[in-house]
Amino acid sequence: MKILIIGHKGMLGSDLALRLAASGYDVSGRDVGDVDITSPSSCRAAIAECDPEIVINAAAYTDVDACEANPDLCFAVNAQGVRHVAKACRERRVKLVHFSTDYIFDGTKGQPYVEEDPGHPLNVYGASKLAGERYLIDLAPDFLLIRTAWLYGPHGRNFVRTILEAARRERTLDVVDDQIGSPTYTVDLAAAVERLISEDRRGIFHITNRGQVSWFAFAKTILAHDGLTGVVVRPLASTRLARPARRPAYSVMSNRKFFRTTGRTMRFWQLALQDCLSSRSVLEQRSPSVEKP
Ligand SMILES: NC(=O)c1ccc[n+]([C@@H]2O[C@H](COP(=O)([O-])OP(=O)(O)OC[C@H]3O[C@@H](n4cnc5c(N)ncnc54)[C@H](OP(=O)(O)O)[C@@H]3O)[C@@H](O)[C@H]2O)c1
Repeated sequence: MKILIIGHKGMLGSDLALRLAASGYDVSGRDVGDVDITSPSSCRAAIAECDPEIVINAAAYTDVDACEANPDLCFAVNAQGVRHVAKACRERRVKLVHFSTDYIFDGTKGQPYVEEDPGHPLNVYGASKLAGERYLIDLAPDFLLIRTAWLYGPHGRNFVRTILEAARRERTLDVVDDQIGSPTYTVDLAAAVERLISEDRRGIFHITNRGQVSWFAFAKTILAHDGLTGVVVRPLASTRLARPARRPAYSVMSNRKFFRTTGRTMRFWQLALQDCLSSRSVLEQRSPSVEKP
């Protein structure tokens, strides 16, 4: 089966490409330079050229703080871009797999969010991703929408890499302790996505690694695993960080629908992190081995 991954050089797109190619799918990749999802004709041309049965859109504008300063670009990619990809998929009767975020929620529910909970974003990024979801649902007759959270993995910039790099420079790290979420390993998410594709599932799924933690406790676990015990991690209130974008205080999402549908559970975040950090190459950049234009 032929799959086109748009955004195949990104953090998640890279692992999706590796996982699906290793499982025998005929995977093609396009990213910035080959396709611009803010352009309808560029989306149409990329999909026509590959002629896939499934398009996976892993392309997005993901710099949450930069989105506050660049709302037009953020909405052009995360909302209008999804609209253009969805329309192009509808024209060719192609299934569309797309990703959204826990940041469409405001974090006030106090218990894990389920797929039916209404979105109420606190920041521009979340608002743009929610708008993208609505275009997807309205325009793509055959879609799979996966909401995920707090991604890290072998490719690209992420919290695990940032903490390890900071710990090699600084003796003290101040990390936010009043935001709770579910760190998710891109390798595990790619496996879960493959599962849903292989079962030809449709609709909305929440998929994260199991369990919940604050950024502060997550940072301490990363450093403890890496033996960087001399570095002091101090809890910080997010109000003291003064970042441009507000974040939800509690954005944990329930994986129950994924479990009930596939019979699979996601690993606890601690096990996934251990796996990630045990493989020393895992935090080094690698290029995904998929066809490039
Ligand atoms: N990262 C997280 O913690 C997280 C959490 C929840 C949900 N998600 C969602 O998961 C998906 C994958 O995220 P990610 O972290 O893997 O993203 P990423 O690493 O930022 O990768 C996104 C890719 O899309 C490319 N791109 C940006 N604008 C484009 C355009 N106009 N046309 C074509 N490609 C474009 C980017 O290129 P450049 O790098 O050159 O811009 C990059 O290669 C996204 O939908 C994101 O919203 C991510």
